[in-house]
Amino acid sequence: MAGEAVVAGETVLITGGAGFIGTSLARRLVEENEVIIFDNFHRDALSRSELPGHTNLRVIRGDVLDAQAVKDAMAPATMVVHLAAVAGVDTVLKQPARTMRVNIIGTYHVLEAAIAFGKLRRLIDFSTSEVFGTHAYNASEGEATVLGAVGEARWTYAVSKLATEHMAITYWKEFELPALSIRPFNIYGPGQVGEGAIHHFIVRALEGRPLEVHNDGSQIRAWCYVEDIVDGICLALSNAEAPGHAFNIGNPRSTLTIYNLAREIIELTSSASQIQFVPWHFPDVELRIPNIDKARRILGFEPKTDLEDGLARTIDWYRAQAEHKQE
Ligand SMILES: NC(=O)c1ccc[n+]([C@@H]2O[C@H](COP(=O)([O-])OP(=O)(O)OC[C@H]3O[C@@H](n4cnc5c(N)ncnc54)[C@H](O)[C@@H]3O)[C@@H](O)[C@H]2O)c1
Repeated sequence: MAGEAVVAGETVLITGGAGFIGTSLARRLVEENEVIIFDNFHRDALSRSELPGHTNLRVIRGDVLDAQAVKDAMAPATMVVHLAAVAGVDTVLKQPARTMRVNIIGTYHVLEAAIAFGKLRRLIDFSTSEVFGTHAYNASEGEATVLGAVGEARWTYAVSKLATEHMAITYWKEFELPALSIRPFNIYGPGQVGEGAIHHFIVRALEGRPLEVHNDGSQIRAWCYVEDIVDGICLALSNAEAPGHAFNIGNPRSTLTIYNLAREIIELTSSASQIQFVPWHFPDVELRIPNIDKARRILGFEPKTDLEDGLARTIDWYRAQAEHKQE
């Protein structure tokens, strides 16, 4: 049975809250809670939403590399969701050192502020499904994490995120900080302003440009709609058993190859776009499907949105954005 999470009467600090997942989370929380968004606005889904100006929302422009700014932002908070990170393969390839800095030192600042502060009721660290490496079928949290060669940007990102998981869990063990980690598996939906195959495919399909598929497009992914991960976050904020754990959050039902995903998007957008196969010489994840039994068992998590429905809603959002731009 899927649980219904009630998060109310809290003050929730969302680092990286102007991004894709953060904006959706803020929308869910803002009526019943005070929400503080802390973000350097490297990405900005927030200004494309209806949220700016909401009376329960405070927005702070700041960098997680600034320890004092993180401390100040956390002062009124009762809960923290730490989303701020350098993410997306293309950005990580260009800025591997910055990725390590922001993801590891930024998380360190958040955790240190949390223990200095000493009264948080919950802190969620954001890891990644990349910690499972290139082949992950029915991958569950207890399995060994797999990391590729040093020097490959993809694994730089994965290592930085795995380090944050270890930090979150050790701060829980040693300092009793009620922290946990979430490993998201390929999130998509309205408001995705960064990178990701679905973002790329829909934008291109609506413009009638070719959809670029790496190599032969046989890579397999399970896609999780953003409102489902927001459910997972809210469950993890409100469930007393959650601290000290890592949780896979994803939707194993919505699994297909990248080639079939491109075809599905062309069909759903009634686009005249072609699929273009481009060689990709970097390591890729060939298969990634989560096992979500632990999140089901402990949190009562259940993804509700199947791919076709989620894609239709996502396409509507991109279409509205494109029309808005033309006005
Ligand atoms: N979307 C996914 O499929 C996915 C998968 C695995 C993990 N994650 C993780 O989930 C989190 C949120 O992802 P998202 O898809 O919303 O990404 P996003 O890029 O849209 O959001 C990240 C936010 O962090 C902000 N940020 C970056 N560097 C910062 C800094 N130094 N100080 C303050 N803010 C900074 C960005 O401006 C952005 O708004 C990230 O930690 C990401 O690594 C996402």
